[in-house]
Amino acid sequence: MEIRIHAEPPRGPVQLPEPLGFGRVFTPHMFTEHWDEARGWHDAAIGPRQPLVLDASAQVLHAGQAIFEGTKAYRRPDGRVQLFRPEANAARFNRSASRMGMPELPVERFVEAIEALVGVDAGWVPSAEGASLYVRPVMVATEPTFEVRAARSFLHYVILSPSGPYFSGGFQPVGVRVAEEHIRAAPRGTGEAKTPGNYAASLAAIEAARAGGYQQVLWLDAVERRYVEEAGAMNVAFVVEGREIVTPALSGSILHGITRDSVLRLAPDLGLGVREERLDIEAVLADVKRARITEVFCMGTAAVIVPVNRIGHRGEDVAVGGAPDFPVAQRLYRALTGIQTGRAPDPYGWTRVVTVPERAEA
Ligand code: PLP
Ligand code: COI
Repeated sequence: MEIRIHAEPPRGPVQLPEPLGFGRVFTPHMFTEHWDEARGWHDAAIGPRQPLVLDASAQVLHAGQAIFEGTKAYRRPDGRVQLFRPEANAARFNRSASRMGMPELPVERFVEAIEALVGVDAGWVPSAEGASLYVRPVMVATEPTFEVRAARSFLHYVILSPSGPYFSGGFQPVGVRVAEEHIRAAPRGTGEAKTPGNYAASLAAIEAARAGGYQQVLWLDAVERRYVEEAGAMNVAFVVEGREIVTPALSGSILHGITRDSVLRLAPDLGLGVREERLDIEAVLADVKRARITEVFCMGTAAVIVPVNRIGHRGEDVAVGGAPDFPVAQRLYRALTGIQTGRAPDPYGWTRVVTVPERAEA
């Protein structure tokens, strides 16, 4: 793909604010390209990050036809920058596109857009422990119309945010509350797609959980209201007797997390068993209470791995074991972040060093 680049090299070393927070600071550039029926994807460009110009009737604002992704670029100990499994995000972007009636994007094009933009803004990749450059690819329907049908024009853009851990405490435990009023996603709905509507539908429950003193929501299945699905915008796993990781099997309404997939592949190499199955919340809580479940943790790109120290359910607060070190979650966190940041070898071929144009170095 040919990308037109209008970018200013940084003037001297980039000074990142402290604390960075998550998704609040943005780099100066963005990638954009357009799709229409006649031309397919075209006009790929990197330029200054700026507000989008959208007609007020653009489909995305009315029918919500939109998808996004989240991946990260990491500063390696040798100073180079690398991406972690961006092809897996590309594949999920296309599955989301297909579910939402949007055009697909060749995998190489998705990755090339990220590599080129991260190359231009490489000076913004943090090197502090736990910090990285969060990469947000998005596709929105731009066609001006109120007709309820798939749009005929789309914008794909990528923006970047130097970020600290999603939860300000980093590897600190969070409390989750089982959602009783709301569901996140139903079978054959859009739960497997990374589409903003899923997040919009989750916000009231997240606020209710927060008001009750919990950081996240533990979602149950939509049909029987019994089976554990996800924790907030993360997948969830349970450690059985300190040696086996059990996570809800992908049900049709659970997002196929790349962190989840990576944990399932890493864990056996750390001597841990793995199982994917349907998990009844009552059985899970009983196992937590009798300490058969020794740890609980959430998994996602933004937070990587976060231990859970309590689960609220029907007014009861169930304490989870593992404190203060959460040894299994901690081992997985160390192993995964070691590969992601280039501090440890990558026997899985998950990482990809970004070529940085010389003028973008700072
Ligand atoms: N579940 C939901 C609903 C998410 O939004 C995310 C984040 O992308 C995840 C799970 C974790 O997925 P990943 O590990 O690919 O970031
Ligand atoms: C994740 O990366 O784990 C997420 O859920 C991203 C979130 C900010 C939508």
